[in-house]
Amino acid sequence: MSTVNICLIGTGRAGMIHGRNYASRVSNARLIALCDPYDESLKAAHDELNVKYLYTDYKEALENPEIDAVIIVTPTVSHKEIALAAANAKKHIFCEKPLAMNEAECDEIIEAANNNNIKLQVGFMRRFDENFQQAKDIVDSGEIGDVVLVKSLTRGPSEPKPWMFDILKSNGPIGEVNSHDLDTLRWFTGSEVESIYSIGGNFRSPEVKEQYPDYYDTVSMNLTLKNGMIGAIDGAQYVQYGYDARVEILGTHGNITLGQQNKHSVVTATKEGKLTSQSMHSWTYLFREAYVNEAIGFVNAIRNNTKPLVTGEDGKQAVKLVRLGLESLMKREIVYSH
Ligand SMILES: NC(=O)c1ccc[n+]([C@@H]2O[C@H](COP(=O)([O-])OP(=O)(O)OC[C@H]3O[C@@H](n4cnc5c(N)ncnc54)[C@H](O)[C@@H]3O)[C@@H](O)[C@H]2O)c1
Repeated sequence: MSTVNICLIGTGRAGMIHGRNYASRVSNARLIALCDPYDESLKAAHDELNVKYLYTDYKEALENPEIDAVIIVTPTVSHKEIALAAANAKKHIFCEKPLAMNEAECDEIIEAANNNNIKLQVGFMRRFDENFQQAKDIVDSGEIGDVVLVKSLTRGPSEPKPWMFDILKSNGPIGEVNSHDLDTLRWFTGSEVESIYSIGGNFRSPEVKEQYPDYYDTVSMNLTLKNGMIGAIDGAQYVQYGYDARVEILGTHGNITLGQQNKHSVVTATKEGKLTSQSMHSWTYLFREAYVNEAIGFVNAIRNNTKPLVTGEDGKQAVKLVRLGLESLMKREIVYSH
């Protein structure tokens, strides 16, 4: 296959990141179709990206033989239905994280992808980020000794979308935000999680407490890994001060820190004695090159018939941990992974 023809399904916040990248920054790929049932979003996306085909129903898009691959960037609750249909239509699939709502749904997607012999890649773009890759290389080189502890936090500034309050639809910040930390914890340690203990609460959206008593916007998780390493993850939504993604990896004789709160290295000092600097405001800025690299990785996996760097199984393991983290939060007890 010389050029991979792409259909973007879901033209919302994250969808447009992928749309813009496939439209101009990914060699050997062509964005030819957009799909979104929300007319206004579809029209705005088309005005900017100007594609050949527009759909409000993904099932119609999947009937188009010109489309080789779909990029699924719809609310998580719809991933399974769309991914199964895409696999059965023999379209390669890039699916945003979290892959699905639970392990059983992930199994169905993975099985459908295998049965139809199509590529399935999950949107853990941090594995394509040059700083995360450098940290992974240092860990693998043994320079800091054996990894003892991985501390990882992700906090987002924006007000949650209405569908995120219903944790049956979103799994809350553990799914929406911390699935990235759970994935990189597995990646950095080379191990699977053994146990999780989570605590959290809703501190910023008291007005939804009555309608969504289980919603939480802040969570802290302690984890043990099967190889004896320790994980500590925190997550929060609607923090307003900026987008914050930082990691620390402590080894037996060294330490790696990754990420920063400043957008640039520019710091202004004034005669009033104030030091100011611009905070990192968005994941779209912090990981902009990582999204391009993951798109290039997906297209290369299709063209070269190689295994994607982030597989359906990685997507499933992260979803499993999201569910265990949530179970621990609800039960207020340690839960174990089998
Ligand atoms: N990798 C990342 O860092 C990252 C960042 C943000 C969001 N995401 C993930 O991307 C997904 C979408 O999140 P978002 O913030 O862009 O949400 P969003 O609400 O901004 O956009 C979702 C879009 O999907 C459309 N949609 C809904 N059902 C559809 C269907 N059946 N067919 C086609 N389109 C449909 C909606 O109309 C909307 O335009 C979620 O799974 C989220 O977790 C990943």
